[in-house]
Amino acid sequence: MSPFNENFKVWRNGKFIPWGEANLHIASHVVHYGSSIFEGFRAYGTTKGTAIFRMQAHIKRLYNSCKIYRMEIPYSQEQFNQAVIDTVEINSLNECYVRPIVFRGYGTLGVDPFPNPVECAILVWEWGKYLGEDALVNGVDVRISSWNRMAPNTFPALAKAGANYMNSQLIKMEAKLEGYKEGIALNVDGYVCEGSGENVFVVQDGVIYTPPLSSMILPGITRDCVMKLANENDFPVIERVIPREMLYIADEVFFSGSAAEITPVRSIDKIEVNKGKRGAITQKLQDDFFAYIRGERADTYNWLTYLYSLNNS
Ligand SMILES: Cc1ncc(COP(=O)(O)O)c(C=O)c1O
Repeated sequence: MSPFNENFKVWRNGKFIPWGEANLHIASHVVHYGSSIFEGFRAYGTTKGTAIFRMQAHIKRLYNSCKIYRMEIPYSQEQFNQAVIDTVEINSLNECYVRPIVFRGYGTLGVDPFPNPVECAILVWEWGKYLGEDALVNGVDVRISSWNRMAPNTFPALAKAGANYMNSQLIKMEAKLEGYKEGIALNVDGYVCEGSGENVFVVQDGVIYTPPLSSMILPGITRDCVMKLANENDFPVIERVIPREMLYIADEVFFSGSAAEITPVRSIDKIEVNKGKRGAITQKLQDDFFAYIRGERADTYNWLTYLYSLNNS
Protein backbone atom coordinates (compact mmCIF):
# COMPACT_ATOMS: atom_id res chain seq x y z
CA MET A 1 0.00 0.00 0.00
CA SER A 2 1.30 3.45 -0.85
CA PRO A 3 2.35 5.49 2.19
CA PHE A 4 1.60 8.67 0.26
CA ASN A 5 -1.44 10.80 0.77
CA GLU A 6 -2.86 13.16 -1.83
CA ASN A 7 -3.66 15.63 0.95
CA PHE A 8 0.02 16.06 1.82
CA LYS A 9 1.70 19.31 0.88
CA VAL A 10 5.18 19.47 -0.61
CA TRP A 11 7.60 22.34 -0.11
CA ARG A 12 9.11 23.13 -3.49
CA ASN A 13 11.47 26.02 -4.19
CA GLY A 14 10.05 28.05 -1.31
CA LYS A 15 6.32 27.39 -1.77
CA PHE A 16 3.87 24.75 -0.63
CA ILE A 17 2.13 22.87 -3.42
CA PRO A 18 -0.34 19.95 -3.34
CA TRP A 19 1.24 16.48 -3.33
CA GLY A 20 -0.34 15.68 -6.71
CA GLU A 21 1.27 18.69 -8.36
CA ALA A 22 4.82 17.94 -7.23
CA ASN A 23 5.81 16.68 -10.68
CA LEU A 24 8.91 16.77 -12.81
CA HIS A 25 9.39 17.01 -16.57
CA ILE A 26 10.83 13.81 -18.06
CA ALA A 27 13.59 15.91 -19.68
CA SER A 28 14.88 17.03 -16.27
CA HIS A 29 18.62 16.45 -15.85
CA VAL A 30 18.15 14.36 -12.70
CA VAL A 31 16.00 11.80 -14.52
CA HIS A 32 18.75 11.06 -17.04
CA TYR A 33 21.96 11.59 -15.11
CA GLY A 34 21.07 10.90 -11.48
CA SER A 35 21.96 14.42 -10.34
CA SER A 36 20.26 14.56 -6.97
CA ILE A 37 21.31 14.99 -3.35
CA PHE A 38 19.00 14.03 -0.54
CA GLU A 39 18.57 13.53 3.17
CA GLY A 40 16.37 11.32 5.30
CA PHE A 41 15.45 11.73 8.95
CA ARG A 42 12.50 11.44 11.28
CA ALA A 43 10.15 13.45 13.43
CA TYR A 44 9.13 11.54 16.54
CA GLY A 45 6.33 11.88 19.04
CA THR A 46 8.15 12.64 22.29
CA THR A 47 7.00 13.06 25.87
CA LYS A 48 6.84 16.82 25.10
CA GLY A 49 5.16 16.60 21.69
CA THR A 50 6.55 16.23 18.19
CA ALA A 51 10.25 16.85 17.65
CA ILE A 52 12.50 16.46 14.62
CA PHE A 53 15.58 14.38 15.37
CA ARG A 54 18.99 15.79 14.39
CA MET A 55 17.61 18.08 11.71
CA GLN A 56 20.54 20.53 11.77
CA ALA A 57 23.12 17.76 11.29
CA HIS A 58 21.19 16.32 8.35
CA ILE A 59 20.74 19.69 6.67
CA LYS A 60 24.42 20.41 7.17
CA ARG A 61 25.24 17.11 5.43
CA LEU A 62 22.82 18.09 2.63
CA TYR A 63 24.73 21.33 2.11
CA ASN A 64 28.07 19.50 2.23
CA SER A 65 26.89 16.95 -0.32
CA CYS A 66 25.70 19.77 -2.60
CA LYS A 67 29.02 21.57 -2.20
CA ILE A 68 30.88 18.48 -3.41
CA TYR A 69 28.65 18.41 -6.51
CA ARG A 70 28.81 22.20 -7.02
CA MET A 71 25.06 22.58 -6.54
CA GLU A 72 24.25 25.94 -5.02
CA ILE A 73 21.19 25.95 -2.79
CA PRO A 74 19.57 29.41 -2.96
CA TYR A 75 18.67 29.38 0.76
CA SER A 76 20.70 29.60 3.95
CA GLN A 77 20.86 26.50 6.14
CA GLU A 78 18.70 28.32 8.69
CA GLN A 79 16.07 28.97 6.02
CA PHE A 80 16.19 25.34 4.98
CA ASN A 81 15.81 24.17 8.58
CA GLN A 82 12.77 26.43 8.90
CA ALA A 83 11.31 25.02 5.69
CA VAL A 84 11.64 21.50 7.15
CA ILE A 85 9.83 22.60 10.32
CA ASP A 86 7.10 24.27 8.26
CA THR A 87 6.64 21.15 6.11
CA VAL A 88 6.18 18.85 9.10
CA GLU A 89 3.82 21.36 10.71
CA ILE A 90 1.67 22.08 7.67
CA ASN A 91 1.13 18.35 7.19
CA SER A 92 0.14 17.91 10.87
CA LEU A 93 2.11 14.70 11.24
CA ASN A 94 3.16 13.81 14.77
CA GLU A 95 5.59 11.18 13.54
CA CYS A 96 6.99 11.13 10.04
CA TYR A 97 9.95 10.64 7.78
CA VAL A 98 11.41 13.78 6.25
CA ARG A 99 13.00 13.76 2.80
CA PRO A 100 14.67 16.95 1.58
CA ILE A 101 15.95 16.64 -1.98
CA VAL A 102 18.01 18.93 -4.19
CA PHE A 103 18.29 18.15 -7.89
CA ARG A 104 19.21 19.46 -11.31
CA GLY A 105 16.00 20.31 -13.08
CA TYR A 106 14.75 21.14 -16.55
CA GLY A 107 16.91 23.14 -18.94
CA THR A 108 18.94 21.24 -21.49
CA LEU A 109 20.05 17.65 -21.74
CA GLY A 110 23.66 16.57 -21.74
CA VAL A 111 26.10 15.39 -19.08
CA ASP A 112 27.15 18.98 -18.25
CA PRO A 113 24.87 19.82 -15.33
CA PHE A 114 25.61 23.55 -15.14
CA PRO A 115 22.94 24.81 -17.58
CA ASN A 116 20.17 23.25 -15.49
CA PRO A 117 18.49 24.94 -12.51
CA VAL A 118 19.07 23.59 -8.99
CA GLU A 119 15.70 22.78 -7.47
CA CYS A 120 14.84 21.99 -3.86
CA ALA A 121 11.93 20.11 -2.33
CA ILE A 122 10.90 18.66 1.04
CA LEU A 123 8.52 15.73 1.35
CA VAL A 124 7.14 14.09 4.49
CA TRP A 125 5.18 10.90 4.98
CA GLU A 126 4.50 8.29 7.62
CA TRP A 127 7.10 5.53 7.54
CA GLY A 128 7.12 2.62 9.97
CA LYS A 129 10.07 0.49 10.98
CA TYR A 130 12.42 0.27 8.01
CA LEU A 131 13.67 -3.27 8.52
CA GLY A 132 10.39 -4.61 9.93
CA GLU A 133 8.51 -4.31 13.22
CA ASP A 134 10.30 -7.10 15.07
CA ALA A 135 13.77 -6.31 13.72
CA LEU A 136 14.65 -3.98 16.59
CA VAL A 137 14.32 -6.86 19.07
CA ASN A 138 14.99 -9.99 17.07
CA GLY A 139 17.50 -8.64 14.58
CA VAL A 140 17.87 -9.23 10.86
CA ASP A 141 19.52 -11.87 8.71
CA VAL A 142 22.03 -10.40 6.30
CA ARG A 143 24.49 -11.54 3.67
CA ILE A 144 27.76 -10.11 2.51
CA SER A 145 26.97 -8.60 -0.84
CA SER A 146 28.72 -9.71 -3.99
CA TRP A 147 28.66 -6.00 -4.90
CA ASN A 148 31.36 -3.70 -3.55
CA ARG A 149 30.74 -0.14 -2.43
CA MET A 150 32.26 2.56 -4.63
CA ALA A 151 36.03 2.89 -4.93
CA PRO A 152 37.80 6.03 -3.67
CA ASN A 153 37.80 8.85 -6.20
CA THR A 154 34.88 7.44 -8.18
CA PHE A 155 31.64 8.45 -6.45
CA PRO A 156 32.29 10.60 -3.36
CA ALA A 157 31.02 8.52 -0.43
CA LEU A 158 30.72 11.57 1.83
CA ALA A 159 27.98 12.92 -0.42
CA LYS A 160 24.51 11.45 -0.03
CA ALA A 161 23.81 11.47 -3.74
CA GLY A 162 20.88 9.75 -5.41
CA ALA A 163 23.27 8.09 -7.87
CA ASN A 164 25.02 6.21 -5.02
CA TYR A 165 21.75 4.41 -4.45
CA MET A 166 22.00 2.54 -7.75
CA ASN A 167 24.77 0.62 -5.97
CA SER A 168 22.58 0.33 -2.85
CA GLN A 169 19.75 -1.06 -4.97
CA LEU A 170 21.99 -3.83 -6.32
CA ILE A 171 22.94 -4.76 -2.74
CA LYS A 172 19.32 -4.67 -1.57
CA MET A 173 17.87 -6.62 -4.51
CA GLU A 174 20.46 -9.36 -4.22
CA ALA A 175 19.82 -9.71 -0.48
CA LYS A 176 16.03 -9.76 -0.81
CA LEU A 177 15.95 -12.21 -3.72
CA GLU A 178 17.94 -14.64 -1.61
CA GLY A 179 15.73 -14.27 1.46
CA TYR A 180 17.88 -11.86 3.50
CA LYS A 181 16.66 -8.58 4.95
CA GLU A 182 19.76 -6.64 4.01
CA GLY A 183 23.23 -6.88 2.51
CA ILE A 184 26.52 -5.61 3.90
CA ALA A 185 28.86 -4.43 1.17
CA LEU A 186 32.63 -4.58 1.35
CA ASN A 187 34.74 -1.82 -0.14
CA VAL A 188 37.02 -2.45 -3.12
CA ASP A 189 39.82 -3.51 -0.75
CA GLY A 190 37.58 -6.26 0.64
CA TYR A 191 36.98 -4.61 4.03
CA VAL A 192 33.60 -4.09 5.68
CA CYS A 193 31.93 -0.91 4.42
CA GLU A 194 28.18 -0.51 5.10
CA GLY A 195 24.69 -1.80 4.42
CA SER A 196 22.64 -0.53 1.47
CA GLY A 197 21.27 2.18 3.79
CA GLU A 198 22.97 1.70 7.16
CA ASN A 199 26.33 1.95 8.90
CA VAL A 200 27.73 -1.15 10.60
CA PHE A 201 29.07 -1.70 14.13
CA VAL A 202 30.83 -4.79 15.48
CA VAL A 203 31.28 -5.63 19.18
CA GLN A 204 34.14 -7.86 20.26
CA ASP A 205 35.20 -8.41 23.90
CA GLY A 206 33.41 -5.26 25.07
CA VAL A 207 34.98 -3.00 22.41
CA ILE A 208 32.85 -1.46 19.64
CA TYR A 209 34.41 -1.22 16.20
CA THR A 210 33.12 0.62 13.14
CA PRO A 211 34.70 1.33 9.75
CA PRO A 212 36.39 4.75 9.38
CA LEU A 213 35.44 7.31 6.70
CA SER A 214 38.40 6.06 4.64
CA SER A 215 36.52 2.76 4.22
CA MET A 216 34.15 4.71 1.88
CA ILE A 217 31.16 4.87 4.22
CA LEU A 218 28.49 7.53 4.40
CA PRO A 219 29.22 9.59 7.54
CA GLY A 220 26.00 8.55 9.27
CA ILE A 221 24.29 10.87 11.72
CA THR A 222 22.99 7.86 13.67
CA ARG A 223 26.55 6.51 13.66
CA ASP A 224 27.55 9.74 15.38
CA CYS A 225 24.74 9.23 17.94
CA VAL A 226 25.93 5.68 18.62
CA MET A 227 29.47 6.87 19.21
CA LYS A 228 28.32 9.55 21.65
CA LEU A 229 26.05 7.10 23.51
CA ALA A 230 28.83 4.52 23.69
CA ASN A 231 31.06 7.19 25.16
CA GLU A 232 28.48 8.06 27.81
CA ASN A 233 28.44 4.36 28.79
CA ASP A 234 32.24 4.06 28.78
CA PHE A 235 32.07 1.51 25.97
CA PRO A 236 35.27 1.99 23.98
CA VAL A 237 34.66 2.76 20.28
CA ILE A 238 37.39 2.30 17.71
CA GLU A 239 37.11 3.41 14.07
CA ARG A 240 39.10 0.78 12.30
CA VAL A 241 39.32 -1.12 9.05
CA ILE A 242 37.29 -4.29 9.61
CA PRO A 243 38.02 -7.57 7.83
CA ARG A 244 34.96 -9.47 6.60
CA GLU A 245 35.58 -12.50 8.83
CA MET A 246 35.48 -10.34 11.96
CA LEU A 247 31.71 -10.18 11.38
CA TYR A 248 31.48 -13.98 11.61
CA ILE A 249 33.19 -14.19 15.00
CA ALA A 250 31.82 -10.97 16.56
CA ASP A 251 29.94 -11.00 19.87
CA GLU A 252 27.42 -8.50 18.49
CA VAL A 253 26.79 -6.73 15.18
CA PHE A 254 24.29 -3.95 14.60
CA PHE A 255 23.22 -1.42 11.99
CA SER A 256 22.65 2.29 12.51
CA GLY A 257 20.65 4.66 10.32
CA SER A 258 17.89 7.24 10.41
CA ALA A 259 15.57 4.72 8.75
CA ALA A 260 16.91 1.56 10.44
CA GLU A 261 17.57 3.33 13.79
CA ILE A 262 19.68 0.80 15.76
CA THR A 263 18.93 -2.70 14.49
CA PRO A 264 20.70 -5.86 15.67
CA VAL A 265 22.09 -8.26 13.08
CA ARG A 266 21.02 -11.84 13.87
CA SER A 267 23.09 -13.70 11.30
CA ILE A 268 25.59 -13.05 8.53
CA ASP A 269 25.87 -15.49 5.65
CA LYS A 270 23.85 -17.88 7.84
CA ILE A 271 26.40 -17.72 10.67
CA GLU A 272 24.56 -16.71 13.85
CA VAL A 273 25.72 -13.72 15.87
CA ASN A 274 25.41 -14.20 19.66
CA LYS A 275 23.35 -17.39 19.06
CA GLY A 276 20.82 -15.27 17.18
CA LYS A 277 20.00 -13.10 20.21
CA ARG A 278 20.34 -9.32 20.51
CA GLY A 279 23.48 -8.52 22.53
CA ALA A 280 23.63 -6.54 25.79
CA ILE A 281 25.65 -3.63 24.38
CA THR A 282 23.33 -3.31 21.37
CA GLN A 283 20.31 -3.30 23.66
CA LYS A 284 21.81 -0.68 26.00
CA LEU A 285 22.60 1.61 23.05
CA GLN A 286 19.09 1.12 21.66
CA ASP A 287 17.53 1.92 25.05
CA ASP A 288 19.58 5.10 25.37
CA PHE A 289 18.93 6.10 21.75
CA PHE A 290 15.17 5.75 22.11
CA ALA A 291 15.23 7.52 25.47
CA TYR A 292 16.83 10.55 23.77
CA ILE A 293 14.44 10.33 20.84
CA ARG A 294 11.37 10.19 23.09
CA GLY A 295 12.62 13.17 25.08
CA GLU A 296 13.00 11.06 28.24
CA ARG A 297 16.60 12.22 28.63
CA ALA A 298 17.85 15.78 28.99
CA ASP A 299 18.66 16.88 25.44
CA THR A 300 22.36 17.41 26.17
CA TYR A 301 23.39 17.51 22.54
CA ASN A 302 20.43 19.55 21.20
CA TRP A 303 19.32 16.67 19.02
CA LEU A 304 15.61 17.51 19.20
CA THR A 305 13.81 20.39 17.49
CA TYR A 306 10.39 20.65 19.11
CA LEU A 307 7.50 21.81 16.97
CA TYR A 308 5.68 24.06 19.37
CA SER A 309 2.96 25.24 17.02
CA LEU A 310 2.07 21.65 16.12
CA ASN A 311 2.22 20.66 19.76
CA ASN A 312 0.00 23.51 20.89
CA SER A 313 -2.62 23.42 18.16
C1 LIG B 1 24.51 4.05 2.50
C2 LIG B 1 24.12 4.55 3.84
N1 LIG B 1 24.96 4.41 4.87
C3 LIG B 1 24.65 4.84 6.10
C4 LIG B 1 23.43 5.45 6.37
C5 LIG B 1 23.12 5.93 7.75
O1 LIG B 1 23.15 7.33 7.79
P1 LIG B 1 22.23 8.17 8.80
O2 LIG B 1 22.47 7.61 10.15
O3 LIG B 1 22.70 9.56 8.65
O4 LIG B 1 20.83 7.97 8.35
C6 LIG B 1 22.53 5.62 5.32
C7 LIG B 1 21.24 6.27 5.56
O5 LIG B 1 20.96 7.29 5.04
C8 LIG B 1 22.87 5.18 4.03
O6 LIG B 1 22.02 5.32 3.01
